[in-house]
Amino acid sequence: MIFYFSGTGNTRWAAQQLAEATGERLLFIPEQMKGNCHYELEENERLGFCFPTHGWMPPKIVLNFISRLEINARGHFCYAITTCGDDIGCCMKEFQKKLHSRGLHADSVFSLIMPESYVCLPGFKTDSEEIVKQKKAKANKDLKVFIGLIKERCIGKEIVFKGIFPYTKTYVLGTLFNHWLITDKPFKVDAELCIHCNKCAYACPVGNISIEGKLALPHWHHDGSCTNCLACYHVCPKHAINYWDTNKKGQYFFA
Ligand SMILES: Cc1cc2nc3c(=O)[nH]c(=O)nc-3n(C[C@H](O)[C@H](O)[C@H](O)COP(=O)(O)O)c2cc1C
Ligand code: SF4
Ligand code: SF4
Repeated sequence: MIFYFSGTGNTRWAAQQLAEATGERLLFIPEQMKGNCHYELEENERLGFCFPTHGWMPPKIVLNFISRLEINARGHFCYAITTCGDDIGCCMKEFQKKLHSRGLHADSVFSLIMPESYVCLPGFKTDSEEIVKQKKAKANKDLKVFIGLIKERCIGKEIVFKGIFPYTKTYVLGTLFNHWLITDKPFKVDAELCIHCNKCAYACPVGNISIEGKLALPHWHHDGSCTNCLACYHVCPKHAINYWDTNKKGQYFFA
């Protein structure tokens, strides 16, 4: 059983590769959050978690899901993969801590560098086409290695790129980032550019965007559900969505 979260498709691709290679069930966390989050693993089934790194931490929706997760994992092999643009800091340490609080433990953990999706703050931007190509080629190779280890149920592997100053990143910058900057308040739509295609609303994994009427503009609910995954920003075919000052920045969606 593989639980995953993804905004711009990187993690969805990784999770789909895993599901294909292991023949195991693939479940999207936002969909699962609508149910009771109770599951039965089969005798030899593995338990996997795939999610992007957000501010050097697992996304809050993933941590909330673990808080509610009830599963018969006793001696089942368990692993986690996080995708990131650069480095993960202590993201996996925090994820293990969350699992431990529920009586679970990841036997092996991995990080996979993929194209960058974060653009909101000054200085953060999407990768060039060439870097996207290189990152995807390397991720394809690395994921094959991880899948091999997962299929063999290798215990104790920690193949992650924490980057420099991982504690400062996760526990200082990441704490501030996740507290203050995971918000839908700055989203704005350029009415001149919007073609009312509904793609932003459709792409939102948590149903946080409504478009009421054929020629209405999308509006964000401002109800605390936004994960800041930026799927809405990146998917817009007219680059009509702006977050603070992103209108001159690039867009990226896994394809
Ligand atoms: C809100 C947010 C925060 C992010 N924080 C980090 C980070 O701390 N470190 C990093 O290397 N990449 C970071 N990224 C980049 C993503 O982790 C990376 O692009 C990931 O593969 C996106 O996965 P997805 O396409 O499945 O949503 C961040 C992206 C977003 C949207
Ligand atoms: S509103 Fe946009 S950033 Fe927020 S969860 Fe939905 S798609 Fe992601
Ligand atoms: S994706 Fe862009 S063009 Fe389509 S409805 Fe949303 S803002 Fe408008």
